[in-house]
Amino acid sequence: MTVYKIAAIPADGIGPEVIGAGLQVLEAVAARDGGFTLDVTEFDWGSDHYKRTGAMMPADGPERLKAFDAIYFGAVGAPDVPDHITLWGLRLPICQGFDQYANVRPTRILPGIRAPLAGVGPGDLDWVIVRENSEGEYSGHGGRAHKGLPEEVATEVAIFTRVGVTRIMRYAFALAQSRPRKLLTVVTKSNAQRFGLVMWDEIAAEVAREYPDVTWDKMLVDAMTMRMVLRPRSLDTIVATNLHADILSDLAGALAGSLGVAPTANIDPERRYPSMFEPIHGSAFDIAGQGIANPVASFWTAAQMLEHLGQPAAAGRLMAAVEQVCAAGILTPDVGGTATTQAVTDAVVEAVRGAN
Ligand code: NAI
Ligand code: MG
Repeated sequence: MTVYKIAAIPADGIGPEVIGAGLQVLEAVAARDGGFTLDVTEFDWGSDHYKRTGAMMPADGPERLKAFDAIYFGAVGAPDVPDHITLWGLRLPICQGFDQYANVRPTRILPGIRAPLAGVGPGDLDWVIVRENSEGEYSGHGGRAHKGLPEEVATEVAIFTRVGVTRIMRYAFALAQSRPRKLLTVVTKSNAQRFGLVMWDEIAAEVAREYPDVTWDKMLVDAMTMRMVLRPRSLDTIVATNLHADILSDLAGALAGSLGVAPTANIDPERRYPSMFEPIHGSAFDIAGQGIANPVASFWTAAQMLEHLGQPAAAGRLMAAVEQVCAAGILTPDVGGTATTQAVTDAVVEAVRGAN
């Protein structure tokens, strides 16, 4: 029997609600499969930990995480702690410290979920956004001078390296190649950003030669937002910088019906470190504690985790159960239903148990 060691970091707001739901479903999937078990360790890191100790996680946090096969992460963010502290104190040190350079964000309209675009339903929108997750605009390179004075300056420098861009392009081309349509759109802004993103475009063209069977095109990021809304069927796999993909994937989540169904995987493709799986959404303190958070994103990212761990059959069974429950109209309020988090979770557990 294979045992996977999973570090669960539910963290803030609705994080514990959706991760708790996800762990129930994962346990059912493992039991149904019979070929593996999950050995889950929960960590109480996050904003409460920060308020108690002055740090989002202990100094040896990353070192402790190295012993795990994967990390299952909720969300960070509290109304009374600045967002740059919560983000840079927990989520980004894990992504960047473990060189999880490929952030993979699948978007589909699940059956039973009414998406906002007229005439666009399940099957019409099936994308995977690949976000560069280690550098670019979120390199943390910059500073402030003359703080508080009228002449204050702040710089926020985007870093693009040949190594960083090449490896994310290779990942995106390979992913596009593995999907039926073999179609990749490279997002850029190389008209206005004429150094980093011109190199981005050049490297895309170089890497494209290694994948002759992948059809690819280039889109400026502003025009891309229009294409996502007006011609969703024309897109399949998408690769973009850290900032651009961050923004585009929130749009993608909304076009698929709700942020509450959008998952993300922070992957170290070389498997030197554990990869991290999380819903895209934040801690949603406007609905925290009410028991109505949509757990579908945390189920979907759990399926991505099983896939990464080498259990594609279990991942497929989990997604089939999620789709069955959505199609049956057992939905939380954000997607037009009246079900609670626990009711959706119970239904998915039931569907997993009954699955072939
Ligand atoms: P958010 O994603 O937490 O919420 C945006 C809207 O979507 C809210 O109205 C919320 O109720 C709704 N929503 C989100 N997830 C949902 C779910 N599972 N079910 C139903 N409705 C859901 O983004 P917001 O409000 O901008 O940020 C709140 C906090 O979360 C901030 O502190 C922010 O910094 C943090 N954040 C953390 C992220 C992370 O940990 N990866 C990502 C995004 C934001
Ligand atoms: Mg975001």
